[in-house]
Amino acid sequence: MTTNNTLLEVRGLRTAFHTEAGAWLAVDGVDLSVERGEIVGLVGESGSGKSVTGFSLLGLIDPPGEVVAGEVIFDGTDLRTLSEEQLRQLRGNRIAMIFQDPLMTLNPVLRVKEQMMEAIHTHYPKTPKREAEQRCLEALAMVGIPAPESRIDNYPHEFSGGMRQRVAIAIAMLNQPELIIADEPTTALDVTIQGQILYQMQTLCRKNNTAMIWITHDLGVVAELADKVAVMYAGRIVEYGPVSEILAAPRHPYTKGLLQSMPGTAKPGSRLAQIDGMAPTLTSREVGCTFRPRCLHALDQCAQSVPPQTIEGARYFRCFAPIPALQEAV
Ligand SMILES: Nc1ncnc2c1ncn2[C@@H]1O[C@H](COP(=O)(O)OP(=O)(O)O)[C@@H](O)[C@H]1O
Ligand SMILES: [Mg+2]
Repeated sequence: MTTNNTLLEVRGLRTAFHTEAGAWLAVDGVDLSVERGEIVGLVGESGSGKSVTGFSLLGLIDPPGEVVAGEVIFDGTDLRTLSEEQLRQLRGNRIAMIFQDPLMTLNPVLRVKEQMMEAIHTHYPKTPKREAEQRCLEALAMVGIPAPESRIDNYPHEFSGGMRQRVAIAIAMLNQPELIIADEPTTALDVTIQGQILYQMQTLCRKNNTAMIWITHDLGVVAELADKVAVMYAGRIVEYGPVSEILAAPRHPYTKGLLQSMPGTAKPGSRLAQIDGMAPTLTSREVGCTFRPRCLHALDQCAQSVPPQTIEGARYFRCFAPIPALQEAV
């Protein structure tokens, strides 16, 4: 499903954690493609492998973890073939990452201005000071920080949680990355602020034609923000494609379960629908479809092998017993 406009193509990505009980595949064969300027929501329950996927893409997995297979083709180059130095040149420049905790990016003992100037000068050392300062102020204004010229000399702890995350986002956007990987950056914030940040990120991505992978456990966020959605379950993408198509008619039973457990889809006053059962753990993983023990539609076949990708137009799913497609209205 690659086109001339494809920015990132991930094929067969596998990341293992080596433990005493053996190698545990936290990411078990992920395929994804992201077009330039496209926003992809990566959604799944806690522990499904979303963060490990994000870190694997950027070569940020440390022992006992290891990316053991796959290709991560960014603008024609497989990032897995690059040296650590070459990766460092890409990170914070052509590819940026935003974390749930802004203090993963912000240095508590440096004023915001120093950190922002450093982010520019690390990659573009010849940028004149005045021009760099101007860019920092513009970046802070763009993410909705009021009166940036009076805030830029503050330390990170002088900002509220929401404002601090905005600063981290401004730093991520400074060098106009082509791809942003955002790992639940608004999960810890209140709903109103989350909504504002989502809207601002979407606007900025559209304006600069920046692609973004937005990691979240919240399908509601994906519905608001993303063009495409990748639904992750136990280290695999079980369904992928345009948000509008997948939310209107999921083919994978897990996606349907996630949709039914979204607040707002349940009738007021009724209990939220839940997907029964637990996500697989280190000891319980077995052959076949990992969702099978929780699936109401499972067939014998599902215990024997991993469902291959079924491609339908712009989407794919991995299921032997999919939910029937919506019939075209006649
Ligand atoms: N450093 C680590 N060592 C061992 N296992 C890890 C490590 N980091 C993550 N994992 C395992 O990888 C799986 C996926 O984790 P993660 O990607 O953080 O999930 P998510 O972001 O979807 O909540 C989990 O089962 C987790 O326990
Ligand atoms: Mg995570």
